Amino acid sequence: MMAIEQAIITWVHLVASAIWVGGSLFIAMVFAPVLKTLSPSVEDRLQIMIKVGRKFNRVAIPSLMILIVTGIYNAHQILIRPDFLFLTSYGVLLVIKIVFVVGLLVAFGVHVRIIRKEVEQKITAKQLSSAQIAKLRTKIIIVGQVTVGLSVAILFMAALLDAGI
Ligand code: HEM
Repeated sequence: MMAIEQAIITWVHLVASAIWVGGSLFIAMVFAPVLKTLSPSVEDRLQIMIKVGRKFNRVAIPSLMILIVTGIYNAHQILIRPDFLFLTSYGVLLVIKIVFVVGLLVAFGVHVRIIRKEVEQKITAKQLSSAQIAKLRTKIIIVGQVTVGLSVAILFMAALLDAGI
């Protein structure tokens, strides 16, 4: 492959990574704390957060898919050599990165399932008790933190791969 083709694939991987990780961190570190000051009602805040999450998913999910496709492409030389994969530190780090990505997909899947349409409709129709709302909020926060944490851990794996450790 020509160097320019490799550069373009790395660039696409980096841009998708910026959208996914940057967007998740923005929601966690900027939007969530601002939202807390906007309304005293947990119900209102949850509804706004769900809206923002849905809109973010429209760019975040394609970015995650692009990361996986370009990542597999970046790694395919190594992935087709199982001996290399488990016998070199690069291979082991790559396997750990892939395990984290699988964990991320599971966490994100749980996150999306918790906030499915029917749950949102129940919140809008005020069919949930405040105890149910509080429980829902705690679940969303925990799974959200796991998702963001894994994303940042994946960046660390990428840094280790890049450093050739
Ligand atoms: C959330 C998902 C992911 C994020 C945020 C992410 C992020 C990054 C970043 C920032 C880099 C540094 C750019 C570079 O050095 O080329 C990178 C490199 C790389 N990524 Fe990913 N990546 C993700 C998923 C994947 C997946 C699923 C694979 C493989 C199946 C993968 C394989 C690679 C490889 C092989 C490199 C090159 C490392 C090197 O030797 O420098 N990535 N990734």
